[in-house]
Amino acid sequence: MSNSSRTPRSILITGGAGFIGSNFVHHWCESYPDDRVVVLDALTYAGNRATLADLEEKPKFRFVDGDICDRDLVETLLREESIDTVAHFAAESHVDRSILGPDAFVQTNVIGTFVLLEAFRQYYPALTEAGKSGLFLHVSTDEVYGSLEPDDPAFSETTSYEPNSPYSASKASSDHFARAYFHTYGLPTIITNCSNNYGPYHFPEKLVPLMCINMLLGKPLPVYGDGLNVRDWLFVRDHCTALDTVIHLGKPGETYNIGGNNEVANIDLVKMLCGLMDELAPNLPTRPSESLITYVKDRAGHDRRYAIDATKIETELGWKPSVTVEEGLRQTVEWYLANEAWWKPLLSAEYQAYYDTVYQ
Ligand code: NAD
Ligand code: DAU
Repeated sequence: MSNSSRTPRSILITGGAGFIGSNFVHHWCESYPDDRVVVLDALTYAGNRATLADLEEKPKFRFVDGDICDRDLVETLLREESIDTVAHFAAESHVDRSILGPDAFVQTNVIGTFVLLEAFRQYYPALTEAGKSGLFLHVSTDEVYGSLEPDDPAFSETTSYEPNSPYSASKASSDHFARAYFHTYGLPTIITNCSNNYGPYHFPEKLVPLMCINMLLGKPLPVYGDGLNVRDWLFVRDHCTALDTVIHLGKPGETYNIGGNNEVANIDLVKMLCGLMDELAPNLPTRPSESLITYVKDRAGHDRRYAIDATKIETELGWKPSVTVEEGLRQTVEWYLANEAWWKPLLSAEYQAYYDTVYQ
């Protein structure tokens, strides 16, 4: 978006210490240095304040260590910071953890989203009386649509919801609340449903960082089932430009699907990462990296295929991804090679216990 003629915003970014949230915070602060940016994050195992360390000294930036389920805190922040835009990323986001323990997913993803919407609804009249417009951007996932057969058309905004995991069920529920608050109360909400992201600041439990880190440590590369499940991969920085576009040009009450048009089977993606790591890493403990690939027990209820039809955001709002999956994965491998100081401390005893439970 052009920075020249816009009025500065005051934006509340929930989950801004997580993977996509932190990339979005960096994107926003670089693109709109005159905006007030308030991050609300409970710093769960997936949140990392160090990711935002370079922003902490900036006068326009504020980090709040707090829970989106804390209604008093959320109401205070909205008023105190004269927030006009909420970009809601905070969530429990890992499918495997939702299978092990769904409670936190219902609490944060459903109740937390409800608390934010309700607080924004109560606050919104004061915003409009002050002559300002507002927006609640609800960042969601393609997993709400369920699983595709090989020849099914990609998910569009009108595909019916068929969530299959506790994670996707909780996200589907939160999407329905965001939709209902527009239809019932006229609250300006927009929902985005995006495909699998990858890139810098990705917590090690997810496929791409897990494979990169295991290759660097010479550990087995665990591929679930037959490795033929398909995901539609999008570089996280392209997701951020899509959300920026939606905030500036999107229509309240609408849903926008976001995807990279990059369908890849898991085993092919892992092999691409192996090739890149063999090429770029100087001191791998095991070569070739493909020799580390190990097929393991499948994820329960594992969705077979996701694919996003991003025609709406491309034609109506003019957004397009900037990198191919090959380019984006290369940048990601380079980032993990250059940023061991970021990911190594995340391999804690707690993380190891989680890892042992899932991969035993
Ligand atoms: P993440 O797990 O990396 O980060 C989540 C962040 O939310 C963390 O910083 C965590 O501390 C914070 N958080 C969790 N519970 C909280 C609470 N109760 N209060 C305040 N903060 C809390 O997640 P992510 O991968 O960055 O995903 C961000 C959003 O994007 C999620 O809503 C997810 O559903 C959605 N999404 C993710 C992907 C993907 O590929 N990762 C794709 C599409 C959509
Ligand atoms: O589609 C969007 C979703 O993408 C987001 O909503 C979720 O928050 C995000 O976590 C992601 O979900 P997935 O379950 O698709 O991502 P994950 O990285 O966990 O797994 C990607 C694929 O790789 C999936 O088919 C399972 C498989 N996999 C994953 C891990 C962690 C493996 O084969 N081995 C593994 O060790």
